[in-house]
Amino acid sequence: MSAYDRSVSEYYSKAKLEEQILDALKTTGKNIDELLVDDLAALDEFHIRGRKATEELAQWARIRADYSLLDVGCGLGGTGRYLATVFGCNVSGLDLTEEYCRIAAMLSARVGLKSKTFFRQGSALAMPFADRNFDIVWTEHVQMNIADKTGFYNEISRVLRPGGQFVFHDIFAGNNEELHYPVPWAADNAVSHLIAVEDLRSILSALGYIHVQWEDKSSESAVFFRTVLQRLRGQEWPPVGLHLLMGDDAKTKCENMLGNLQNNRVRVVQAVMIRGR
Ligand SMILES: C[S@@+](CC[C@H](N)C(=O)[O-])C[C@H]1O[C@@H](n2cnc3c(N)ncnc32)[C@H](O)[C@@H]1O
Repeated sequence: MSAYDRSVSEYYSKAKLEEQILDALKTTGKNIDELLVDDLAALDEFHIRGRKATEELAQWARIRADYSLLDVGCGLGGTGRYLATVFGCNVSGLDLTEEYCRIAAMLSARVGLKSKTFFRQGSALAMPFADRNFDIVWTEHVQMNIADKTGFYNEISRVLRPGGQFVFHDIFAGNNEELHYPVPWAADNAVSHLIAVEDLRSILSALGYIHVQWEDKSSESAVFFRTVLQRLRGQEWPPVGLHLLMGDDAKTKCENMLGNLQNNRVRVVQAVMIRGR
């Protein structure tokens, strides 16, 4: 692993994360030997608007049970477990952070999805998959940690079959002003690389993608962080939540994201594209 990848992976890794997650679930009265996919939703979808965003994208994409789907930068695998449960498809998840892959596999085993979801450690820039291997490639909140955008989207195109769907929910540069740090994906700009939405459009268009659906979700994303912060006023985080992944400065990260969205320093876009044949 390169020094850069190691620093990204170390940023996400948390001491005793598996233990903390299982303890938090027990605190809320869950039997960790009889978990449901929905019991994990508050913590295993590490992106803005959580499950809601994944549900929207899933409605836009035409997912079939016989499809093979790849989630690039899958984190703890929550998106994959949701899609495998609702649509019956097989989901592979790839993530740079070894600890996340291990916990993702453990959580899938606990909800009975061991034979539908598969997790592997690896880099999105050199994926261990054959060309044209997947019907859908999905990614949420990963490319902000990747400087080589062309390499990232090229690699996605390589493993996606022609006519397949590329589904993303991601964070982009707004007015090019420096972000307020820390943010959920970076402590500072050393591992944060945002491009403008217009540059993304150019890259995808050069790769031959065609729009199915494209929506700017910046306002709804600001509402999401405002709601999280309002709920926290004078209160602790609920036991099961994204703070387990974001760490001790989780509240500051949410405040900074609200500021970044309100000042147009970042924009959030969700889209479904078709790879040209
Ligand atoms: C904010 S989390 C999002 C996780 C997941 N997509 C979700 O929505 O729950 C970002 C994830 O991207 C992963 N990541 C960052 N750079 C990566 C790379 N080059 N290749 C693969 N995964 C990467 C991190 O390890 C982390 O799990």
